[in-house]
Amino acid sequence: MTAPADEASAVTSLLRLRTWTRPHRKAIIVMIVSASGAMLAQSLVPLIVGRVVDGPIRHHDTAGLWPLAGVALLFGLAEATLFFIRRYAMANAALGLETDIRRDLFAHVQRLPVSFHDQWPSGQLLSRLTTDLSTIRRFIGFGFVFLIANSATAVVVLALLMHIHLVLGLFVLVAMAPLALFTRRFELRYSRDARHAQDLTGDLATSIEESALGIRVIKSYGRRPQMLASFSRDAQRLRGAELTKIRTLAAFWALLEGLPQLILAGVAFGGVLAVAHHAMTLGQLVAFLTLYLRLIWPIVSLGWLLALTQEAASAARRIFEVMDTRPTILDPAEPAAAERGTTVRFDDVRFRYADADTDVLRGIDLDIRAGETMALVGGTGSGKTTLTALVPRLYDVTGGRILIGGVDVRELRLDQLRHVVSTAFEDATLFSASVRENLTLGRAGISEDDVSEALEVAQAGFVHELPFGIETRIGEQGLSLSGGQRQRLALARAVLGRPRVLVLDDPLSALDVNTEAQVEAALRRVLSGTTALVVAHRPSTVLLADRVALLLDGRIAAVGTHSELLATVPEYRNLLAQTSELEPTP
Ligand SMILES: Nc1ncnc2c1ncn2[C@@H]1O[C@H](COP(=O)(O)OP(=O)(O)OP(=O)(O)O)[C@@H](O)[C@H]1O
Ligand SMILES: [Mg+2]
Repeated sequence: MTAPADEASAVTSLLRLRTWTRPHRKAIIVMIVSASGAMLAQSLVPLIVGRVVDGPIRHHDTAGLWPLAGVALLFGLAEATLFFIRRYAMANAALGLETDIRRDLFAHVQRLPVSFHDQWPSGQLLSRLTTDLSTIRRFIGFGFVFLIANSATAVVVLALLMHIHLVLGLFVLVAMAPLALFTRRFELRYSRDARHAQDLTGDLATSIEESALGIRVIKSYGRRPQMLASFSRDAQRLRGAELTKIRTLAAFWALLEGLPQLILAGVAFGGVLAVAHHAMTLGQLVAFLTLYLRLIWPIVSLGWLLALTQEAASAARRIFEVMDTRPTILDPAEPAAAERGTTVRFDDVRFRYADADTDVLRGIDLDIRAGETMALVGGTGSGKTTLTALVPRLYDVTGGRILIGGVDVRELRLDQLRHVVSTAFEDATLFSASVRENLTLGRAGISEDDVSEALEVAQAGFVHELPFGIETRIGEQGLSLSGGQRQRLALARAVLGRPRVLVLDDPLSALDVNTEAQVEAALRRVLSGTTALVVAHRPSTVLLADRVALLLDGRIAAVGTHSELLATVPEYRNLLAQTSELEPTP
């Protein structure tokens, strides 16, 4: 998603990282102090060189050389020690900071509702959690520290230059002034360029992810050349954006490199004149020139330090775009004590997706009695999945309410609600973990018997034949399972621990007739004690239910037993016609 860059200045967005820098403040101060110290130690050496020229060299005094050489050596040692300290503190603080932000960002993304994830391509989240965070780490551990250390060095060196020779020193200062103007223009341009490149990185991550997930479709439809072409186009666009960045940086850098050389020529000329007129000693001129050379690096480094700062600022902005999205599905301020009973009631429920302009559900009224199994039948795209997602509050209704045991689901604590309501979705998602972990998902208080029972109900005995039984790793990083096997595990996950309300979105669609019959038989046992809403496409699934609700045009058009609806509702007959001819009706 290419969100418009907000106009907050780089400093404002970087300042917002304060929350995370706080625990590392000491280490950051150590970094700044040691970096500045090292730079200063390095800058002071020219003064000693000046003394060497005016003292031992001029007077041919080799003995006088030793103390000065000793001091220079001390400066060198100090610089090395400070360098070590800075690198160590940097690794600690910057890596710690990156880990902290990453953890908080991930936790936040997990808290955000499904509707957020509908709108944000996963690649944009991925690039924020990876590249943007490492940009920030480089800035905190490096850019920020050297921005301060180099500025401090520049100020000290300029002061020393003026101390050695006021007029020449002032000349340097004035000649450098145009840089300030160009720096501002550079920052504005580079900030825009950097943002553009970061957004394109996110788009690229999205296409990599989609093509990895959709590799079967791509291959079997022979779409590889097209995918490659469109990927290359994206990659080229990113290349173009990066080149624009580099062009901006190169122009600025040329100025940063060129200007100091011109000034050097002026300084050398002025210095020679000053020495000729005895306004300056030769040693002072040598000190001035070597010291001036030490000024070039802090000035030149400004180019990439400011570039890094802009990149970090726009990375921070991109991260805060996510962080500033408030979770909309939250625990109630005053949660209801507990649901009383397990009836499920839809009371004039309306729902519209965030980016849609019509309601999917237009006033659903439906009562499911405690312990009853209600099948939900409706055409493709009629809103069945949407309706099931509203019960555990994956989305919140946009009108009306859903009551469990007479309590509005929005008045229950989320963990409580999701403990009462268990769901299995159309696409059986498995994680890269063992079968057991995929079933329990870390829920506490699940016994071995619960697991066996759930596997039995879902007819998922096949897991015992896997190489390591129930401890076998499955999912993307493990063993691949068939569609039917996945569905049975998702079903086992849903019935695990005998939830009081069960919501199943077409749980038997990928099963062969034999397995389907077995799962149904076992499911019938579970469903007998549970209030359930089961989306059904086939008569065999419908037959598990006590009653059937027909979803038509966003409303419940009819409720009754399967045979009642077959007899009285033509739309229902049409929906189940093709398959029902093959199966005996009771
Ligand atoms: N995340 C979403 N954002 C916007 N619109 C959506 C979203 N999910 C579904 N829709 C739209 O809502 C309507 C109902 O979709 P839903 O998935 O609930 O249908 P369904 O009855 O489950 O269909 P099926 O039988 O094919 O599973 C469809 O028109 C669909 O395009
Ligand atoms: Mg569906």
